[in-house]
Amino acid sequence: MLTVSKLSKTYGGKVPYQALTDIDLSIRTGEFVGIMGPSGSGKTTLLNLVATIDTPTSGEVLLNGENPHHLKRSKLALFRRRHLGFVFQDFNLLNTLTIKENIVLPLTLDKKPLGEMEQKVMHVAKKLDIVKILDKRTYEVSGGQMQRAAIARAIIHQPSLLLADEPTGNLDSKSSRDVMETMETINTKDGTTMMMVTHDPQAASYCHRVLFIKDGQLYNEIHRGENRQTFFQQIVDVLSLLGGNDHDLSSAGI
Ligand SMILES: Nc1ncnc2c1ncn2[C@@H]1O[C@H](COP(=O)(O)OP(=O)(O)OP(=O)(O)O)[C@@H](O)[C@H]1O
Ligand SMILES: [Mg+2]
Repeated sequence: MLTVSKLSKTYGGKVPYQALTDIDLSIRTGEFVGIMGPSGSGKTTLLNLVATIDTPTSGEVLLNGENPHHLKRSKLALFRRRHLGFVFQDFNLLNTLTIKENIVLPLTLDKKPLGEMEQKVMHVAKKLDIVKILDKRTYEVSGGQMQRAAIARAIIHQPSLLLADEPTGNLDSKSSRDVMETMETINTKDGTTMMMVTHDPQAASYCHRVLFIKDGQLYNEIHRGENRQTFFQQIVDVLSLLGGNDHDLSSAGI
């Protein structure tokens, strides 16, 4: 469903910086793929290129057979709303709106009928266990609840690809686990394809496959077997080989 070929990104400015070099990867429908690597290795850059938030210097992104970077601005906006969902580390919810208003935002942009919006909100709110907080504002709920609301917003239009950049980065370990279990359920029950950047080996262990990036290039890739705990240990091992300043290694006793 997603194919990235020879993707490179050089940021301009006084001193140009090549953040990504010749990345090749593909993700099949229904897969849950993690992206890991040291700080500054190019993970967010890669995600932003796939998300069409930023444009590549060279190379190609094909999503369901279409290259979104070749679309005109108006078509691109529509393409994003149809195919993509985003979850960010800092939730990106608007604090002047209620949780419910935040969640329906993508549908109001598409001018969907009120009844349909109401029904969809209830459906995702039940799925994410946030029905009770729908009328609250963002400052009245916990971090974990905010992230679950952000996930609800990201999936309400049933995107084919959900992109997440450090979705557990601002959460404690209990909330992280809840969010990851929710993501896993959405992946298995709804068949939503997922690409998630994370520093956290525990979060990454929920993925089917983890790609490691170092200095803007693919470094390694490992697949999960039956056991998530074994996968966690393998992820920690690759991270220790990878080096960098990954803070999670200290907690793993390395
Ligand atoms: N807009 C920009 N202009 C110039 N350089 C940038 C820009 N965005 C990122 N970079 C540089 O590109 C490199 C990759 O950045 P990126 O944000 O993709 O890293 P990352 O792997 O997501 O890191 P982190 O784990 O800290 O989030 C870094 O060296 C960064 O300084
Ligand atoms: Mg980043």
